[in-house]
Amino acid sequence: MKKLLPLSLLLAALPALAQDIAALTAETKKAVLPVVPKVVNAMQEAVADKGVAGAIPVCKEQAPELIAQKRKETGWDIRRVSLKSRNAERGTPDLWEARVLADFNIRAAHGEKPETLEKSEIVTLDGKPVLRYMKALPTGDVCLKCHGPAESLDAGLKAKLAESYPHDQATGYTKGQIRGALTVKRPL
Ligand code: HEC
Repeated sequence: MKKLLPLSLLLAALPALAQDIAALTAETKKAVLPVVPKVVNAMQEAVADKGVAGAIPVCKEQAPELIAQKRKETGWDIRRVSLKSRNAERGTPDLWEARVLADFNIRAAHGEKPETLEKSEIVTLDGKPVLRYMKALPTGDVCLKCHGPAESLDAGLKAKLAESYPHDQATGYTKGQIRGALTVKRPL
């Protein structure tokens, strides 16, 4: 039988845990979040240089590559996920992530600013503590060129998307909606 911690001990530990989460979250954000503007800039430059259809490789290869670099640098599991993925292989959320994404949508609908939405929690995975962190990625103007309403997309782009992503669900977004999130699993 599992031993239960006396309630008083548990309560005494709570503020310390809260502090840990705050400090760990701040550290995690500091290490990981600089990758977000890097990806957005790469996208903006690529669209300006090559046009939208020509910029697909940036989102397909350069964005995952920038994130892979961060993974290497930190040793943490870092990905992009969405409830409506374009690349299901890379972008499908697990149950925790799907719940957080749904919660982000609810929080945004209740007036929270999409660019401020984040979530962190210490969870147990395979018996080990892990800090999970997610940050919402709202759609700005450049994103809509490739994730906007299907009828507004460039014809050449549409053809290329259909070729590479026959199961693409990632269109139909309007400005400021949550396209997905950056997600981090940091072993503690
Ligand atoms: C040039 C077209 C293009 C632009 C512009 C673009 N994307 Fe994407 N996006 C893609 C493609 C292609 C993928 C699939 C990448 C892959 O194969 O992993 C993708 C995937 C994603 C994913 C990963 C989850 C999924 O759906 O597979 C997120 C999150 C995302 N984009 C967010 C954004 C945001 C936010 C912006 C604006 C800052 C943006 N994208 C701009 C083409 C684009």
